[in-house]
Amino acid sequence: MDLYEYQAKELFAAHGVPVLPGEVADTPEEARAAAAGIGTAVVVKAQVKTGGRGKAGGVKLAADADEAAEKAAAILGLDIKGHVVKRVLVTAASDIDTEYYVSYLLDRANRTFLAMASVEGGMEIEQLAVERPEALARVPVDPIDGVDAAKAGEIADAAGFPADVREQVVDILVKLWETFVSEDATLVEVNPLVKTPEGRVVALDGKVTLDGNADFRHPDTAAKFEDRDAADPLEQRAKEKDLNYVKLDGEVGIIGNGAGLVMSTLDVVEYAGRQHGGVRPANFLDIGGGASAEVMANGLEIILSDRSVRSVFVNVFGGITACDEVANGIVQAFGLLESRGEAVRLPLVVRLDGNNAEEGRRILSEAALPGLEQVDTMDGAAERVAELAGAR
Ligand SMILES: Nc1ncnc2c1ncn2[C@@H]1O[C@H](COP(=O)(O)OP(=O)(O)OP(=O)(O)O)[C@@H](O)[C@H]1O
Ligand SMILES: [Mg+2]
Repeated sequence: MDLYEYQAKELFAAHGVPVLPGEVADTPEEARAAAAGIGTAVVVKAQVKTGGRGKAGGVKLAADADEAAEKAAAILGLDIKGHVVKRVLVTAASDIDTEYYVSYLLDRANRTFLAMASVEGGMEIEQLAVERPEALARVPVDPIDGVDAAKAGEIADAAGFPADVREQVVDILVKLWETFVSEDATLVEVNPLVKTPEGRVVALDGKVTLDGNADFRHPDTAAKFEDRDAADPLEQRAKEKDLNYVKLDGEVGIIGNGAGLVMSTLDVVEYAGRQHGGVRPANFLDIGGGASAEVMANGLEIILSDRSVRSVFVNVFGGITACDEVANGIVQAFGLLESRGEAVRLPLVVRLDGNNAEEGRRILSEAALPGLEQVDTMDGAAERVAELAGAR
């Protein structure tokens, strides 16, 4: 889960990383009050989960409270790369002597963690990495040893931090590592980390990605930072039902068991759809092993409440969960949905293969569910479901 800047800074502050005082605001009036409370010149900053806010007009200086309200009015509602600004951070303005860059991230390619640091911060780091790679120090961090003062010194020296800020930077690097580990982050980035004219080093920006697999270890943080606004409403509902669902743009609803099977189902449907007016998958939904009637009903319910769906493909390869159990699950799911007033009204193509496929197919044939067709091969079923979607 990506955090907003203000949330990232909240974590920084909790771990002793120096940040400037700030407050979030959802309206210009709140921004005025926040600025008045801070009492100095402020910077009003769009809170969106994308980079390059400054260039897009989402970061503005305001000399006083009135100007803060004015700048907030200009920024709220702004569309930054498809993200509409609903909230701003009003934070103390700082004079800047130098901008630096520091981050920790999970380096998947090398199966370890990586520290990156540069005394040329401010500009986009991707650009710096391409144009002046020698200016960006990359220091692998052993997950067991972590970052103590000595390691932090190694990182600071690799980046060439000058002596007058070295001690502060080392301290910040150690605290950012503590943030990274104790919050189970996969990314912690500060761009820019600045030196003020008085020689103080502070984090002016913050980007944190938390590892969703570790949410259970931080129930409070996960609930507090959960982003209901940004999430697709269907994805939100699916999450509440513990379903692995991702909304896509197409018209063919997809249900399968196993992430790999569902991924390849998306591919074959996309391919088949080219012959049928370009219909495409409407979602990814992996119901996993043990496809009980309830899981199947919940999955179907989510997919059927997506207005763009015109047909549904249930693609199951029976393994530990045998096809007859899945077939029974589908039959019961139809009943369950009917009783919830959500009866299935769209065509459904089911392909059962693998463990007990014969028995599963027999159960479905016998049940003669309205709108349900069976096709025995994955390609054949993809072709049929695309045809059905294309014809509606
Ligand atoms: N509190 C502040 N006081 C003074 N200047 C600031 C402050 N916060 C940001 N700035 C200036 O604005 C620039 C852009 O801010 P920031 O890095 O937060 O946003 P961004 O880089 O545009 O967004 P992103 O990091 O999402 O790409 C900074 O490099 C800095 O020069
Ligand atoms: Mg930045």
